Amino acid sequence: MTVLQNCIKKISKDNCIWLMRQAGRYLPEFREIRSKNQDFIKLCLNENLSSEITIQPLRRFNIDAAIIFSDILLVPYALGQSVKFKKDFGPLLGEIDFNKMSKINEIEFIDKLKPVYNAIKKTKDQTELKNKDLIGFVGAPWTILVYMLNQRSPKNDDIELNLKDKKFIEDLLKVIVKFLKIHINNQIESGATIIQIFDSWAGLLNKKDYDKYIYNPTKDLVNFVKSKKIPVICFPKGVNDYKSYVSLVKPDVISIDYDVDPKKISDSIDITVQGGLDPKFLVGDKEELKTNVKKYLDIFKDKPYIFNLGHGVLPNTDPSMVDYLVKFVKNYS
Ligand code: CP3
Repeated sequence: MTVLQNCIKKISKDNCIWLMRQAGRYLPEFREIRSKNQDFIKLCLNENLSSEITIQPLRRFNIDAAIIFSDILLVPYALGQSVKFKKDFGPLLGEIDFNKMSKINEIEFIDKLKPVYNAIKKTKDQTELKNKDLIGFVGAPWTILVYMLNQRSPKNDDIELNLKDKKFIEDLLKVIVKFLKIHINNQIESGATIIQIFDSWAGLLNKKDYDKYIYNPTKDLVNFVKSKKIPVICFPKGVNDYKSYVSLVKPDVISIDYDVDPKKISDSIDITVQGGLDPKFLVGDKEELKTNVKKYLDIFKDKPYIFNLGHGVLPNTDPSMVDYLVKFVKNYS
């Protein structure tokens, strides 16, 4: 059993830790590769480089898992929608040609994402991963739908408009769920030992629409991962009711964002909790970081808990702060 999986089941007393966006722009060794690879999608589809980037943070820090270097938007890409990353802006997607998209078959889709699966195969046997998990991931159906329709990261109020064509959206959501399962399955077959589902835009939706866009389609993916006998972590960022989410979607682990009160979560939820710390504390001073890290470790002391952030590591983070954090968490009891 790996350190992280022991931690999920609370078999050992040791603290465990990994970080969302642990591989990325705050690491000079990532920036070096990135500067020579301007096309981000191509970089994700370079199996040697994406495997190398996945391992980079494990060479520096005693973290308990690697997460495969890839992106949630590779799924729209493999479904034939163009995806570009504009510097200082973020992702820009093209128009959806639904006629074409609905004809895409499993073999074509897998073929486009083969390098991701090859990168997982390459990475899983590296010595840096001994006794550690390799996390595979997907965007949640809702978050993928948001990107596909909105064609960029949304602002807080501009998505409602796009949800009017109900029949089209229902059909699109079905295609998304079908291919997310295929993507999950191939990551597991290639060697991913845990799956995380990122619902970065859960907070955009009205509660009345949760069943249709969040609970039901995510539950479908969660059940699929469970049928493969590996743990599934859900990160519904900004969702307004974690208790309902957990009781309806039933993930093995619930990852919380920095706006959530950890005490309330600890009192009301009885599955493994992950995350919470605001990534901005990694950019501040060490004393303040320590106070806030302790808060999470103390609140979750007697519960199964995976230390992580409430969102990804910020690009202006000093790697020495991450080093300090990892050592502090590992030594704290
Ligand atoms: O280390 C890891 O966490 C694994 C790799 C990973 C990336 N993206 C690499 C990446 C993971 C798990 C993701 C998930 C992802 N991608 C999410 C869900 C988590 C979240 O952040 O809410 C979302 C919404 C995306 C879509 C996406 N990708 C956006 C909006 C952006 C641009 C803004 C940003 O954060 O940079 C990306 C680019 C991206 N994905 C980078 C990395 C390392 C930065 C690329 C660069 O410019 O060098």
